[in-house]
Amino acid sequence: MTIRPICITGDPVLHNRAAEVTEFNDELRTLVADMFETMDKAPGVGLAAPQIGVGLRIFTYDYADDEGNERRGVIINPSLEIGPISDEPADEDTEIEGCLSVPGERFPLKRAETAIVTGVDLDQKPVRIEADGWFARIFQHEFDHLDGILYVDRLAEPWKEISTDIIEDNGWGKPGKSWLPGRDNLEG
Ligand code: NI
Repeated sequence: MTIRPICITGDPVLHNRAAEVTEFNDELRTLVADMFETMDKAPGVGLAAPQIGVGLRIFTYDYADDEGNERRGVIINPSLEIGPISDEPADEDTEIEGCLSVPGERFPLKRAETAIVTGVDLDQKPVRIEADGWFARIFQHEFDHLDGILYVDRLAEPWKEISTDIIEDNGWGKPGKSWLPGRDNLEG
C-alpha cells in the first residue's frame, strides 16, 4: 500500500465529474487500499478518489459517532439522497467543514441533516447507509467530490470571498498542486 499525494484545489481532476467504475479488479483493490492509507495518514474522515488524482466515483470514510462506534468503509458508484437544507446561516462553531484538498482551512457550511447513500463495495455487493448529523455531512462532502464540487464552492458570504482570497494567497487554484500526508504538515 502507498500513501498518495493529495491534489489541492485548482487541479482539474477535482473540478470535473468523475467516471463510473466499470472494472472491479486488483487494480481497484490497490487503489482503495491506498485511499484508506492516505485518508488515515492525512488524517481525514473521508477521501474521494479524485483527491488522489483518480477520476473515478469512489470514496472512503472513517467516522466515529458520539457513542464511539466506528463507521468505516468504501462506496463505489454511489447515489445520494438528502433531506432538506435549512435556509438558516451555518453555525460558526458547530457547522464547520474542512477538506484535504483545501488543507488547513475550515469554514461554516449548512448541510442537510440526513442522507442516504447507496452504491456497491469492492465485491460489487450493494451498500445502503442511512446517516444523520456529521456522518450525513461526510457523505454529502465526499459525494460532491465525485461531481467536481468542493465544499468551498458551496460557501455563503462572507466565507466564499474569504476562502477565495486564501486560495489565491496560498498560490493554489491552479493545476498540479499537491501535498503528501506524513511529509507535509497540512491538515485538512
Ligand atoms: Ni474534501
